Amino acid sequence: MDTTAPRCRPHRLAAETWLVPRLVPAGEAGFVPVNSMVITGEQPVIVDTGAVIHAKEWAEDVFGLVEPADVRWIFLSHEDADHMGSLRTAMDLCVNATLVTDFMAWQRISVHTELPLHRMRWLNPGERLDIGDRELHAVLPPQFDSPTTRGVVDSATGVMWAADAFAAPTPGEIHELGDLPAGLWDQVFMPFNSMGNPWHSWLDPDAYGRHLDTLEKLPVRVAASCHGPVLRGAGISDAYAKARAMAGAPAVPAPGQPVLDDILKAAGLIDPTG
Ligand SMILES: [Fe+2]
Ligand SMILES: [Fe+2]
Repeated sequence: MDTTAPRCRPHRLAAETWLVPRLVPAGEAGFVPVNSMVITGEQPVIVDTGAVIHAKEWAEDVFGLVEPADVRWIFLSHEDADHMGSLRTAMDLCVNATLVTDFMAWQRISVHTELPLHRMRWLNPGERLDIGDRELHAVLPPQFDSPTTRGVVDSATGVMWAADAFAAPTPGEIHELGDLPAGLWDQVFMPFNSMGNPWHSWLDPDAYGRHLDTLEKLPVRVAASCHGPVLRGAGISDAYAKARAMAGAPAVPAPGQPVLDDILKAAGLIDPTG
């Protein structure tokens, strides 16, 4: 099995909008995407800043799309390590950029990283930010693994950044749902998203359904995310249907010690007969 992650290049999502794809090897599952996004509009926006392990490639790709001095906004969906890996770099290089985040994310980040409050804008779900040729509409995503998480919808293109929602592994450098092997999405959606959002088992389907109804009414034409394929058209409806079906369903247990033992045996780090 080839576990070397391919060197992905920016993938066009819509006019002036690029997915910056990265992959992390995930054993038999293939690779887990760890994506971010760039909007090269009148006031360019970086959407999430990737993981530290990808800092070099992330900077090559992002600053190949937009000059650092031209970046006006850095939208941080939340403060998890796979979303803020190059935040410090971006804030230092993009001297004209304002960080779009929220109170709780700032609180959590501030225990390890000092951020300039005067270069910050707090945007809560339901609020909109006018950035010249478009508005960024902050939303509470359909699924999330940090309470600070905000998704965003671009009014000009209908591209939604869904942060950690709608995740799925990929067998390789495949970014669009329609290009994944047949059946994979249906097979992995529940277990993969259950591990990231185990709270789904407590959900009242009606109450959660009302949240998804609100999101589905938004004029979204493309749903991109950090850890899943790019969804368009019927693929978006299908993802919402799959998320709805998780409400109240038992959470899928995460891999335990037997899986770690198998990994260690395969790597020759423990006695296979032990
Ligand atoms: Fe997260
Ligand atoms: Fe994430």
